[in-house]
Amino acid sequence: MRDATVSPFVRVRGAREHNLKNVDVDIPRDALVAFTGVSGSGKSSLAFSTLYAEAQRRYLESVSPYARRLFHQMEVPEVDEIEGLPPAVALQQQRGSPTTRSSVGSVTTLSNLLRMLYSRAGDYPPGQPHLDAESFSPNTLEGACPRCHGLGRIHEVTEASMVPDPSKTIRERAVAAWPMAWGGQNLRDILISLGIDVDTPWRELPKKVRDWILFTDEQPQVPVYPGWSHDEIQRAIRRKIEPAYMGTFSSAKRHVTHSFATTQSAMMKKRAARFMIGRDCPLCHGKRLRREALSVPYARRQMVNRGSACKWPEHTR
Ligand SMILES: Nc1ncnc2c1ncn2[C@@H]1O[C@H](COP(=O)(O)OP(=O)(O)OP(=O)(O)O)[C@@H](O)[C@H]1O
Ligand SMILES: [Mg+2]
Repeated sequence: MRDATVSPFVRVRGAREHNLKNVDVDIPRDALVAFTGVSGSGKSSLAFSTLYAEAQRRYLESVSPYARRLFHQMEVPEVDEIEGLPPAVALQQQRGSPTTRSSVGSVTTLSNLLRMLYSRAGDYPPGQPHLDAESFSPNTLEGACPRCHGLGRIHEVTEASMVPDPSKTIRERAVAAWPMAWGGQNLRDILISLGIDVDTPWRELPKKVRDWILFTDEQPQVPVYPGWSHDEIQRAIRRKIEPAYMGTFSSAKRHVTHSFATTQSAMMKKRAARFMIGRDCPLCHGKRLRREALSVPYARRQMVNRGSACKWPEHTR
């Protein structure tokens, strides 16, 4: 630094890379600056071939000749002078659409460097073995919080989310999360065969019954006699009258989580999501990483993996 006060600009004089014609430009420092212009106007020539190339050249002068060879060295830029140039990092632009796992860090690849820093220079609690860089990534098995699988949020079904109006009976479709049309009728008929009262308001059913219908992992197979009452079905079974078919019960939770995870239809997925409640993961508190990684701070800070890169409107994803 030549002066105690840093200039608020990067002053470029006489830039002549590629098609640049002796360009003089003052670029604000400590600010987000974008170069815009038609294709071929020279944006990359100014940003990468001039500014970054010069910053790299200056940096490499301070590095041993051996280390210098490890860099992909750029050409010395055609430019008269550049003042106030800070150390620079150039990031490859990345195409392709980000997913829910993309963060600003992963899209820019900065998080790779950050993970390296934590794994090598982090403060490990006494007795904790050193982790590799992967363990600081929520997108790996080693790193991801086991509860939310590295997403930072969990989606849950609750009685209130699946039964929005408990004054309705099962026959009146109290269990809104059930499949529509035949699928819902099938589950209702199965419950009738099982002896559950489908004509009592939901909230008056015993809690044990309500919980079983909504959350059980059991999938009993039962004979179905559509349209018959429980008593009629009991009699039919005693007289060995063939059922219309054997039906398999699934809890509403099973149905919602299964269709959310596996459906190919955007509409079905949206419908399933309506019955789920999203909240910060109770284990990692939205930090996405498992405990071991979070217990290794660097400069007293925990690894951060926030800053989703995909909070864009649906249609741009
Ligand atoms: N390595 C190179 N050697 C010679 N000429 C180059 C080189 N790279 C770019 N050019 C030329 O310099 C001019 C400016 O290109 P540049 O890539 O800087 O434009 P740009 O504004 O970044 O365009 P785009 O929006 O397409 O990225 C173009 O005429 C291009 O052909
Ligand atoms: Mg360009």
